Amino acid sequence: MSRVIKSPRGMNDLLPPESSKWLYFESACRSLFERFGYLEVRTPIVESTELFARGIGEATDIVEKEMYTFPDRKERSLTMRPEMTAGCARSYIEHAIHKREPVTRWFYTGPMFRYERMQTGRYRQFYQVGVEAFGAPEPSVDAEQIAMLYALYTQLGVTDLDVVVNSVGTGDDRQRYREALVAFLTPHRSELCEDCQRRMDTNPLRILDCKVPSCQLLVVDAPNILESLGPDSRAHFDQMRRHLDGFEIPHRVNPRVVRGLDYYTATVFEILGGSANLGTQSTLVGGGRYDTLIERLGGPPTPAMGFALGVERAILSLPGDPSEYVNAPLAYLAAHGTAARERALAIAHRLRVAGLRIEVEHREVGLKAQFKRADKLGVRYVVTLGEDELASGEVKIRDMNRRQEIAVKLRDLESALKQRAHG
Ligand code: HAM
Repeated sequence: MSRVIKSPRGMNDLLPPESSKWLYFESACRSLFERFGYLEVRTPIVESTELFARGIGEATDIVEKEMYTFPDRKERSLTMRPEMTAGCARSYIEHAIHKREPVTRWFYTGPMFRYERMQTGRYRQFYQVGVEAFGAPEPSVDAEQIAMLYALYTQLGVTDLDVVVNSVGTGDDRQRYREALVAFLTPHRSELCEDCQRRMDTNPLRILDCKVPSCQLLVVDAPNILESLGPDSRAHFDQMRRHLDGFEIPHRVNPRVVRGLDYYTATVFEILGGSANLGTQSTLVGGGRYDTLIERLGGPPTPAMGFALGVERAILSLPGDPSEYVNAPLAYLAAHGTAARERALAIAHRLRVAGLRIEVEHREVGLKAQFKRADKLGVRYVVTLGEDELASGEVKIRDMNRRQEIAVKLRDLESALKQRAHG
């Protein structure tokens, strides 16, 4: 027997009916984001490695150890995108979007790739839905994005949302804080985990959200980043929070949320929730302001704010069995006999082309088996076609909910079903 080939570790198939739950979630995102003025952008899954190294930061976990990087046939180093913000920024600059409009609002959805340790809610190929707004420096934009997310999850029935906000300030603010943090941690250097000992020299802020318990204990008394903010950053943060209050979004401040990507300036935030199914991976969304990234990547100075949410984690926290998200067919055409079946197939085709969701059986099976199938599919109407119906040109539409039947002429079947589809 030949060996069975499996999908790569951490990269999953998405199968029906699970895919219906995904589609439902993605279309809820689209419809909501469009109401807030965001339009979809699609960028390549693969970008030049340099974009992520410069964009996300050399000393981040993503760039240091999680990227899928490979040389192409001409030895150019390419990387499977670990996130989309860098790609959006590249695209914004490449197409000189700032010349077309003062504010640009994009959303995206698609697979991302990170070579991470696998667990529930953490995969190597995972999907994000995200939003980026370019050109708007106002703190109300930060708050509006958070409020939009809050609306998304509550509308979908995800409860226990925990909105956590912080500010990492400008480069100067962060430099000041970095010095204070290093001064605080230096006497405890040997008590830090191996990764954090390295981070002391490369990216000390990351020690704040290290998951190792001994590191977590150490940073409890660490200096508060909010106290290192200059007056402008402080004002931005306070105004952003006032807007959140205006939008009636419950939230809390956690000065230890610094995020794992280097491009952030000012606001950073995370939304946690859906914890029952997610285990330790309860961060549904992460985002923040990145006012210097576009310039650092060679574009004009452009303020920007965005977030990305994990689709797998959203699906895990969404209530309901996947099968509840499958749209049942409107009607089932049951046929009795070869001539009726041929006719049923032709009618089903016509009805489908006319926009109706119709099931019909291709195999020659008895009516009983067909009714059973119709029942299993949860269809609302069953139309039976046999020799009598062919001869009379009249069929019965059986309403499975009301257990009623009405007779209609075959030529009126389409309008009768359409009426019921919309009624
Ligand atoms: P991130 O925090 O790296 O931010 O990822 C955002 C979300 O993607 C996480 O909160 C989580 O739900 C999901 N996620 C991340 N890694 C995995 C994984 N291995 N498996 C499953 N889900 C995962 C960013 O990616 C930024 N680009 C967000 C952003 C946009 N900031 C500004 N604009």
